[in-house]
Amino acid sequence: MRRLAPDDDAASAGFFVQQAYLRLPGYPIDPDYDARLADVRGRAHEADVIVAELDGRLVGCLTFLPSHDNPHSDVEDPEATSFRYFGVDPEVQRRGVGEAMVRWCIDETRRLGKRRILIHTLESMPGAQRLYLRVGFERRPDIDGYWDGILGVGFGYEIGEDIDEEIDRAPGASTPPARPH
Ligand SMILES: CC(C)(COP(=O)(O)OP(=O)(O)OC[C@H]1O[C@@H](n2cnc3c(N)ncnc32)[C@H](O)[C@@H]1OP(=O)(O)O)[C@@H](O)C(=O)NCCC(=O)NCCS
Repeated sequence: MRRLAPDDDAASAGFFVQQAYLRLPGYPIDPDYDARLADVRGRAHEADVIVAELDGRLVGCLTFLPSHDNPHSDVEDPEATSFRYFGVDPEVQRRGVGEAMVRWCIDETRRLGKRRILIHTLESMPGAQRLYLRVGFERRPDIDGYWDGILGVGFGYEIGEDIDEEIDRAPGASTPPARPH
């Protein structure tokens, strides 16, 4: 997992992100948005484009938004990070790449001192929604909204909670364990 490098094949990353979305049953086709999905290099100077590499080729890509005032952000909370344009090459899905990328976003949000991650999914993304719930996100109906008539289904991850859970789970711990850095 790392940031997109200048000599990476951004076009191939854009292609598989776009394909990942277009293959979703019920995905609402929108030519403008679908072209934007593929423009990985175009957004790399405005946001953190994160890629996953497997056996020497890019297989996962998302755009991490460290701040709510980023031009790509669709959340309003100044204490939140976000990510979007998230796809794993359909050929290597279901091998844990997506989960590893979401965990990178959680670690980066903690490192930045932000309190939470807020994101929007689509109704046609049940696999992504399962992934988010599995790693500790919660449904956030309060941030649901419509963009061009399409429902954005909100999810949030609270950075404090996983630390509290670690403390709660420590058997018989009288003093909290040191927090990982
Ligand atoms: C959502 C997405 C990024 C997840 O990527 P991924 O690499 O397939 O994610 P993971 O492999 O971590 O998890 C997916 C599934 O594989 C399973 N899995 C993970 N590792 C596995 C392994 N070694 N063997 C078998 N199954 C495995 C997970 O349990 C999970 O199962 P589930 O679908 O029943 O919940 C990908 O499906 C995608 O590109 N979707 C289309 C675009 C999209 O919805 N983007 C989200 C935008 S908000």
